[in-house]
Amino acid sequence: MSKISPIPSLFSTPGKVAVVTGGSRGLGLHAATALLYSGCSKVYIVSRKLGACEAAVAELNALEGIRGKAISAPADISKPEEITRLVKEIGKDTDHVDILIANAGATWGAPYGAWKKEYWDKVMTLNVTSVFMLVQEMTPLLSQRATIADPSRIITTASIAGIQGFSGGVNATYSYSASKAAVIHLTKHLAVTLGPHRILCNSIAPGFFPSKMANTLIDIYGGKEELGRKNLNGRLGVEDDFAGVVVFLCAKASSHVNGVVIPLDGGGHLVGDIFKSEDGEPKAKL
Ligand SMILES: NC(=O)c1ccc[n+]([C@@H]2O[C@H](COP(=O)([O-])OP(=O)(O)OC[C@H]3O[C@@H](n4cnc5c(N)ncnc54)[C@H](OP(=O)(O)O)[C@@H]3O)[C@@H](O)[C@H]2O)c1
Repeated sequence: MSKISPIPSLFSTPGKVAVVTGGSRGLGLHAATALLYSGCSKVYIVSRKLGACEAAVAELNALEGIRGKAISAPADISKPEEITRLVKEIGKDTDHVDILIANAGATWGAPYGAWKKEYWDKVMTLNVTSVFMLVQEMTPLLSQRATIADPSRIITTASIAGIQGFSGGVNATYSYSASKAAVIHLTKHLAVTLGPHRILCNSIAPGFFPSKMANTLIDIYGGKEELGRKNLNGRLGVEDDFAGVVVFLCAKASSHVNGVVIPLDGGGHLVGDIFKSEDGEPKAKL
């Protein structure tokens, strides 16, 4: 007879303590909502703006049926000293962290010939360097309760842009693509380092999901309906898509999954850049 656990216990996060960077809106807010619904006792919401963190926390704590609470933890994690302060602040409120969703990110778009080093640095600093520095500083808290049977989790939000090539139009996002490929590989390296310490590290690579960051590009490429229609499954990403994968990667169901990247784009990356216009993006001007 099979001894599998009751299915609800495989897909929940009872009593877990989570930190979500970029948790004030967009994909991070979907993750924070899902983690509270799936049973987390505490979810720390990190973003630069105090007001945005507090508004998200108020919204989350008003959710019906949750037992845990969201806690505002503002910090600009592109600055190493802010990462140190953030981890200290969280450490005053909890003696351990079970789940880190390293999700905050930024992008920059410009034509090929107009790229400047500052566009590059801004994106790489937040999307790659700050992920590593935060993981490093948070490892003692993540290690506290991590066991073979119940490992802690780190999830990085990468992007399909880190897996497939994109056209080089007037909004080409060179540093973004490079940063997301880097964070996918960084996550694999972290999986090798932290797996033996009972901390599992995995990436989610979303395609387009409507959000403050993505909406401008979605509009440039024809809008949600048009872009969705071009995708293999006929739509863009929605809240539940991200929520479902986050809960899976944080729950008992995935406690043998380490070092993977889950493309979350309806399969669009399999057929190339579905986001360009029908007649193709203009060639990059050199
Ligand atoms: N939406 C998509 O289509 C899509 C697709 C693939 C990957 N992604 C990735 O998903 C992640 C979330 O993106 P999103 O679309 O949800 O974007 P979003 O709605 O613009 O949210 C970005 C979040 O990051 C926070 N943030 C930005 N800079 C920060 C900093 N220096 N320190 C701390 N927090 C900071 C923002 O809050 P503050 O402004 O208050 O700091 C906000 O909470 C990013 O890593 C993005 O690259 C998104």
